[in-house]
Amino acid sequence: MSEHLDSSAPTKANPYQSKLLVNRLLNQGSDKETRHFELSLQQSGLSYEPGDSLGVIPQNNPQVVDDLLAATGLSGEEQIQVGEENLTLRDALINRLACTVLSKIQIKKFNEIAKESKLEDLLQPANRDAFADYLWGRELIDLFLEFPQQGISADELVGLLRPMPPRLYSIASSIKAHAEEVHLTVAIVRYDSYGRKREGVCSSYLADRVGECIPCYFHPNKNFKLPEDSTTPVIMVGPGTGIAPFRAFIEERRAIGAGGKNWLFFGDRSSKTDYLYGDEWEQYRKDGLLTDLDLAWSRDQAEKEYVQHKMLAKGKELFTWLQEGATFYVCGDASRMAKDVDSALRQIAQSEGAMSEDDANAWVKSLQKEKRYLKDVY
Ligand SMILES: Cc1cc2nc3c(=O)[nH]c(=O)nc-3n(C[C@H](O)[C@H](O)[C@H](O)COP(=O)(O)OP(=O)(O)OC[C@H]3O[C@@H](n4cnc5c(N)ncnc54)[C@H](O)[C@@H]3O)c2cc1C
Ligand SMILES: NC(=O)c1ccc[n+]([C@@H]2O[C@H](COP(=O)([O-])OP(=O)(O)OC[C@H]3O[C@@H](n4cnc5c(N)ncnc54)[C@H](OP(=O)(O)O)[C@@H]3O)[C@@H](O)[C@H]2O)c1
Repeated sequence: MSEHLDSSAPTKANPYQSKLLVNRLLNQGSDKETRHFELSLQQSGLSYEPGDSLGVIPQNNPQVVDDLLAATGLSGEEQIQVGEENLTLRDALINRLACTVLSKIQIKKFNEIAKESKLEDLLQPANRDAFADYLWGRELIDLFLEFPQQGISADELVGLLRPMPPRLYSIASSIKAHAEEVHLTVAIVRYDSYGRKREGVCSSYLADRVGECIPCYFHPNKNFKLPEDSTTPVIMVGPGTGIAPFRAFIEERRAIGAGGKNWLFFGDRSSKTDYLYGDEWEQYRKDGLLTDLDLAWSRDQAEKEYVQHKMLAKGKELFTWLQEGATFYVCGDASRMAKDVDSALRQIAQSEGAMSEDDANAWVKSLQKEKRYLKDVY
């Protein structure tokens, strides 16, 4: 568990105000925008461990809020209550409430006011797929633009909204390597849909609108920790922003002089534009800290090349490391990547360990039970 020297550790409700020291673009000429952030913990006495996450409490973009207000016909000056606080509607929309990403429950509540047959149909259980298609790329403002509700009151609007949820980010630094700092690796969400430019609330807040300080708190993760025995080898699979905790792991292993071998699988779109922290990995490889480094560039050739393809190509060696007691870590996209990496691991057990499918499944289960197969996926 992370230790906090200060017993009043920051929480969601009572966050620490951390000064933003660095906001650096990690891609070069890519159509992706992945940023490195460095936040100060100076004189706070706060600490964390590799594998922990940081919770960030963002604000909504004032322009997005003003566009929503215009679509609802409200001025934003209306006084409303959020919990114990009395605020103007505009202030509450910027600082307290989630007013972009849509949920099914929200559309249901909206339709109690709007009573639109199109929404009524989409909400039927039989129309699940059509509903998911409708939701994709739409935000709250799109409901008000498609089904205008000019008479809606400020309280009715607030009744549709939930409190602003914090966003978690895997910590990308070891405090032993960067005293009184915490680093993050963040993919900035930006896309166009239904004729509007969209942005992720928290990633764009960090990239574009953060003031001097970021409200944040630590979210310890005891299920994603380096092995207690520092001589244990580690295999780390982290494409895209999944690289974040492994930067922390390697920095920690270097700082404590860990003798265990380190093998990293990283992947992203192109070697020229998306080699996140490339200089650092190349230096670690030269220094011998990284025993093995496998890179999968998905868009540098006609056929997709992913981290799991690199794992399969080195299946024999990977299986040997695991037989020798290595811990296997995966971080990043949960929806596709982590599943494909999992199935590559099972394939390797079958091909290199001469196991049946059932035996390979039991072997993977035993790795999990021994806490030697750990995931930080989202
Ligand atoms: C434990 C944990 C660790 C994490 N670590 C990291 C990390 O290290 N780095 C990192 O970058 N993220 C990380 N995340 C994800 C992070 O918490 C946020 O979810 C992410 O930054 C998006 O938040 P946002 O507020 O910018 O976007 P939101 O405002 O929450 O918007 C995201 C939503 O936008 C919609 N959307 C996104 N792209 C498109 C598109 N192309 N078309 C249509 N709709 C789209 C989807 O509905 C999506 O759910 C982590 C999550 C968890 C749970
Ligand atoms: N709005 C945007 O422009 C934008 C762009 C990128 C990511 N994002 C979002 O940001 C979040 C994090 O992005 P990220 O940088 O961590 O990751 P990412 O861009 O989603 O992916 C990183 C790398 O993993 C590859 N990949 C895709 N499917 C895979 C699979 N099944 N198995 C293994 N590798 C796979 C990608 O290849 P390919 O992409 O070539 O298939 C890419 O090379 C994601 O949730 C994504 O939705 C948004």
